[in-house]
Amino acid sequence: MRKVIIYLALFLILISKTNAQKQIWNETETEKTERLAWWVEDRFGMFIHWGAYSLAGRHEWVKRMEKMSNDEYQKYFDNFNPDLYNPTEWAKMAKNAGMKYAVITTKHHEGFTLFDSKYTNYKVTNTPYKKDALREWVDAFRAEGLKVGFYYSLIDWHHPDYTIDRLHPQSPKTNDQYKELNKNRDMKIYRKYLKNQITEILSNYGKIDILWLDYSFTENQAGPGKGRDDWGSVELIKLVRKLQPEIIINDRADVKKNKGGWDFTTPEQFKVVNWPTYEGKKVPWETCQTFSGSWGYFRDELTWKNNRQLLVLLIESVSKGGNVLLNVGPTGRGTIDNRAESALSKIGDWMKINNRSIYGCTQAPPEFEVPENSLLTYNPETNRLYIHLLDYPLKNFTLKGMKGKIKYAQFLHDASEILIKKRYGHWNVTNSGINENDINIELPINKPEVEIPVIELILK
Ligand code: GLC
Repeated sequence: MRKVIIYLALFLILISKTNAQKQIWNETETEKTERLAWWVEDRFGMFIHWGAYSLAGRHEWVKRMEKMSNDEYQKYFDNFNPDLYNPTEWAKMAKNAGMKYAVITTKHHEGFTLFDSKYTNYKVTNTPYKKDALREWVDAFRAEGLKVGFYYSLIDWHHPDYTIDRLHPQSPKTNDQYKELNKNRDMKIYRKYLKNQITEILSNYGKIDILWLDYSFTENQAGPGKGRDDWGSVELIKLVRKLQPEIIINDRADVKKNKGGWDFTTPEQFKVVNWPTYEGKKVPWETCQTFSGSWGYFRDELTWKNNRQLLVLLIESVSKGGNVLLNVGPTGRGTIDNRAESALSKIGDWMKINNRSIYGCTQAPPEFEVPENSLLTYNPETNRLYIHLLDYPLKNFTLKGMKGKIKYAQFLHDASEILIKKRYGHWNVTNSGINENDINIELPINKPEVEIPVIELILK
């Protein structure tokens, strides 16, 4: 019996130890909800991919895609001189589009830093541009009232101690070649570098609202991957939490299992079917998306999404409880090109008159059935339900099970009343599919001049 008790005690100690190791941050669920409240409310942000690759103008992965060496890639660094860079203009474009926060690449996989760093020479202040472009960016975006976030790439294709892995531009074919190439590289030194640079960006630029770390990947037949142990993720996130206790962190440092290791999940270029869950629970999420098929400026890429697709993406994400981080890839001269500018401005046209169905909104409670060809969002504060009409209906429109629930109905864009019909169905239709608990509303025949019109229901 005594033996059993001793074993049990040892077992419990072991469990509590592993749990303690798992915990990165001690925060209650309520505290977390409060910390994330502004971000959930805001729903819509701008992603910015800008670096030396912007000069190539053919994808931010160009170094890897074309297997360039550091020497071959050096031309982009040597010519980095964005003479038209005006981050206030960028911030105004984001704001006009209805975006409330922005996340910029402080360093992408290429290793080039957009900030002045004590720990590398491969930084913006050593290019012909000379200035700390990140500082200008932070100042401009903050001044426009936008929240600021930093993307920082864990991957680094320039640092001499970063081991060659399967994604690296110099990745070879065989294990022996990997060994040979990596024999003088030391990830311990790189881990220190990560910590130092994260410390710099989270100490020298005031309050940072979001940290976007990118990314971890497993080993496969092509070669080695990298994850939590390579990055020293547990220590790294602890450091982040210490430096910026209110910051919101994404989920790509491979510490999903550690409490406090991440705040939201990041479906990339992917429309989720349902609200994403982790261990059975719905989690905060944000989909990041591009206008066209690249994050960095890509001159010849032509698969640009249209205005409607982008609006549906935003509405649909909110209808499933999520955020959208929509990307621009500024040019080597520091401008947002016409295609992106016009896309932003069209989103802004819609947002100006319809943003009430986005900000502060989330998935509608399940009691509200989604009407035909539409998307629902719901504001729990104001108790209003928003019906986004994806395919404009013909005059009468049925809301299933809504009888007795609506105080008032109007179009959102012009606050014009929408009449709820007294009589259901039609005089000579015996079975129109409208039941007792349904209501029928009357819409104008002509679709309002709004890409996706929204009906606002003020509920009882
Ligand atoms: C990917 C890509 C990268 C891009 C990022 C945005 O991880 O490697 O180029 O920055 O996604 O989510």
